[in-house]
Amino acid sequence: MAIDADGLISPPFDFNHADVSRFSPEVTGRIAINSMCERLGWSSLGGRRLLDFGCGVRFATTIINLEMEIDLYAGVDTNAAPISWLKENVRDTRLQFHHLNMRSTMYNPAGVTPTVETLELMQLRNFDAACMFSVITHQEPEDAELIFAMLRRCAPRLYFTALIDDRVRGYVEKDPQNIGHLSAYSTERLKEMLRRSGWAVERSFPPGFFQQTAFICSRAG
Ligand SMILES: C[S@@+](CC[C@H](N)C(=O)[O-])C[C@H]1O[C@@H](n2cnc3c(N)ncnc32)[C@H](O)[C@@H]1O
Repeated sequence: MAIDADGLISPPFDFNHADVSRFSPEVTGRIAINSMCERLGWSSLGGRRLLDFGCGVRFATTIINLEMEIDLYAGVDTNAAPISWLKENVRDTRLQFHHLNMRSTMYNPAGVTPTVETLELMQLRNFDAACMFSVITHQEPEDAELIFAMLRRCAPRLYFTALIDDRVRGYVEKDPQNIGHLSAYSTERLKEMLRRSGWAVERSFPPGFFQQTAFICSRAG
């Protein structure tokens, strides 16, 4: 059943790695959300406005099914199917969902290249933070930099995870037959892209429980 009598949801999608998907979305979702909140210096999502870019369905499922407090959760994804499912099945007005038809070699090759203002023009503004879990891991550098620049207009802080390998010269596709399957960056290259997009890295955290290397950034300038 997609939605039960208590309003719990069970979206028929799974976008996570097998190591993550062997647990329920609420188990790994809660660990990821709690870790992000703690690192951002938040006691919880209570009273916060969070923009989740490349949202999939995991955090929406976690917030709803575990009755987490939050002021506003906006999920954005290039994949139309989960977004339309969430729009149809989620009744909780604290959560909203937006389809962004951004071209992605792996997820949406027929999409288009947005402009740096696109999210702002979709009224996605004034969030406390934007987050991306396992999204930069699937981006070529131009797309990653555009995403960073778009998000800078939406929130003063950014939390994201990425596949870091400081042995590579800047950027490499670890699975070259499948571009965007495993896009790895050196720390220096990622920092340079963030700087050009108007972000300063506050802190980074080594890979841990269900999460790759994580970065907290704040708007520079
Ligand atoms: C590995 S999944 C992670 C989903 C979710 N963040 C989570 O942790 O459960 C990557 C997600 O990013 C989305 N995505 C990838 N590139 C995107 C882009 N350019 N714009 C919006 N969403 C994108 C995919 O459609 C997919 O839902």
